[in-house]
Amino acid sequence: MGTEPLDPGTAMAAYAAPPPRGAAFDAWRTWESRDGADGVIAAGILAANARNVQPWRFTVGDHSTRIDVYADLDRRQGALDPFDRELYVGLGCALENMVLAARARGHRPELSLMPDPARPEHAATLRLTPGERVPSELYDAIPHRRTNRGPFLRQSLPRPLLDEIAALAGDDSGGPDLLWFADGEGREVVARLLVEATEAVIADEGQSLAGHHWYRGTDREIERSRDGMTVDTQGMPPLMSTLGKRLPAPSRRTADRFWLRNTRTVHVATAAAFGMITVADSDDRAQRMRGGRLLQRIHLFATARQLAVGHLNMMTVRADRERELGLPPRFGKALEELVGDPGRQTLVTFRIGRPGRAAGTSPRRPVATVLGTDAG
Ligand SMILES: Cc1cc2nc3c(=O)[nH]c(=O)nc-3n(C[C@H](O)[C@H](O)[C@H](O)COP(=O)(O)O)c2cc1C
Repeated sequence: MGTEPLDPGTAMAAYAAPPPRGAAFDAWRTWESRDGADGVIAAGILAANARNVQPWRFTVGDHSTRIDVYADLDRRQGALDPFDRELYVGLGCALENMVLAARARGHRPELSLMPDPARPEHAATLRLTPGERVPSELYDAIPHRRTNRGPFLRQSLPRPLLDEIAALAGDDSGGPDLLWFADGEGREVVARLLVEATEAVIADEGQSLAGHHWYRGTDREIERSRDGMTVDTQGMPPLMSTLGKRLPAPSRRTADRFWLRNTRTVHVATAAAFGMITVADSDDRAQRMRGGRLLQRIHLFATARQLAVGHLNMMTVRADRERELGLPPRFGKALEELVGDPGRQTLVTFRIGRPGRAAGTSPRRPVATVLGTDAG
């Protein structure tokens, strides 16, 4: 890869655009003003989560020393996530923010995953006891982290930096792990498969419809739902985003074509490297959440180092769809070959690089909306 910036004017651009005005973005501004269990949840809801469906509900009990986290099964992605893989990974991302926030604010967090095997929607219990304040750069990065769908600078990342990121996985052999596809044939294969998988997703009516369901085309829709995918987070130049919001919302087919073109010419073409998180069993909900914690940790670490991350999961989205419909396992097999270890399975994939453009902020539903009183 060359070393010339794609967009020199913004080469030193801030990593994240500030949150726009409006109640749908308040969560990014107010998260630190809350304390106790509410403050921990306020950090959790800023986490990455597939399509910004925000698949979570929380309850607080035992005098604010216990938070229970539930999968909100009404917020499934349907054909795009038929086995809830991404749903539980997103819960893991939220849990990582919560653990970091608990530590930074003087709680000692004790996390148990899937505490009640008979109720799979009960994803986790987090107990908080008083402890020392443990600040961290990862905690500081929470409000600055964004999924970046814009062009990255055409620069490779030094191997020691990639190794440092891989080390975030720790050395628990039963835990999630990180594989890099940074150069050579491996990188080329991932790039090609990502484009082909995106083609397959948009050719699948059920998956295309499921994606469009979470698209929020107008400010009014965003204010109402405070979730989903918006024009501002598509990685376009600011002027195009502004225009995009004034024009009538694109048809589903037009949006699909835009996404495929960007996957090919922006997301894949400008990635410095592709990362793949693997686990022993990607159907296991606890392992998905552990993998989600690692994914969020990587994204926060990257943010602290002014690197950009974009999530690119069309290969696993297609592999799961193949399983659901009993189709020949084209992407399932390709993923097995990429992993190259029968004891490991792909959980999620992403791209990383130096940002060429600041990423827009996605909306969030406030703590009050996702906090229930009923522990079920
Ligand atoms: C499990 C998971 C899968 C995701 N898959 C994709 C993806 O395939 N393509 C994409 O553009 N973003 C993907 N994302 C990013 C989310 O869309 C993003 O986190 C969400 O819209 C919230 O935006 P934010 O990360 O900027 O807060 C994924 C995130 C997670 C946690």
